[in-house]
Amino acid sequence: MTMLDALNEIETSAMGALDQVSDAEALEAWRIEYIGTKGKIRSVMPMMKDVPNEQKGQVGKRLNEVKSKLEGGFKAKQESLGSGGGGKSSGPMLDLTEPGVIDTHSVGKEHIITRVRGELVEIFSRLGFEVAQGPELEDDEHNFVKLNIPDAHPARDPIDNFYVDDPNEVATPRMLRSQTSTVQIRTMEDAVAKGWGPPIKIVSPGRVYRPDTVDATHSFMFHQIEGLYIDKGVSMSDLMSTLLQFARAYFGEDADVRLRPSFFPFTEPSAEFDMMIALKPGTDPSWIELGGCGMVDPNVLEACGIDPEEYTGFAFGFGIERIAMGKYGIPDIRMLFENDIRFLQRV
Ligand code: DAH
Repeated sequence: MTMLDALNEIETSAMGALDQVSDAEALEAWRIEYIGTKGKIRSVMPMMKDVPNEQKGQVGKRLNEVKSKLEGGFKAKQESLGSGGGGKSSGPMLDLTEPGVIDTHSVGKEHIITRVRGELVEIFSRLGFEVAQGPELEDDEHNFVKLNIPDAHPARDPIDNFYVDDPNEVATPRMLRSQTSTVQIRTMEDAVAKGWGPPIKIVSPGRVYRPDTVDATHSFMFHQIEGLYIDKGVSMSDLMSTLLQFARAYFGEDADVRLRPSFFPFTEPSAEFDMMIALKPGTDPSWIELGGCGMVDPNVLEACGIDPEEYTGFAFGFGIERIAMGKYGIPDIRMLFENDIRFLQRV
């Protein structure tokens, strides 16, 4: 038998035997048999002197190859058996200090809406606003009535809302809320029920629903963030400065705010607010219409049990998609809801 044949044979039988090894004892026996000082590898070494000179290089290489393969196999088995500490072991050894295996799966990130929503909440919380939540399945009492939106108001048309109950048959029909202003009402009601004490200072981010025809800027579901601040002596200038501080914190020191007179049933006076912002870094700032705001209408305070002679407040609400689309250069609102995996990839 040539030395090469002998090496091949050792390799095959050693690897086969190693497969069968299932405890530290058997592994030690295997080590002695194959790679120990009197093992099979050692025992073929003297054959080297009979190998013709011109083959010595090749055979020597093969010898090293088989030797390191066996040693590698031994180490791997030792690790998998957990016999690294020597002696008998009852189970695989886990080295908790080892660095983790690099995950080849892609790691996800927050959806842009979730991220922007978190950023907005974080800024308002620095301005002293707490987060309040309300249900998405609402009733018209909270979505309209207590917000001073009268029965005949066009906003209450069943065509423009997702009613769950028929408004012609049920006294307080349920609906998917069409605005986060509902949370103003719920928060004031709650505060009064718990023995009201000012201030109320909340923001409420969340989903709203309207049966709009879907296009690049409209969706039947989108997100708003609502703000409400009630206390003694809250004024329009507090509203203005809150919006300005928000704009500067989120969009940078150059951001500016302007109010334009408008009308909402739940605020008096009411305004739309624009922000002078560069939505995308490096672009020129321009006036972007962000939402509505105003001083909470006395009727709304009264409907919730708060005395409008003693307390005043401001409220605002704006769309989260609008900010997200501008900030991240997303041209079509539908892209945010189509489960395009790229929106969740870490880049
Ligand atoms: N709820 C309004 C809407 O969905 C937005 C809004 C306007 C909210 C004025 C407010 C406000 O709190 O004071 O269009």
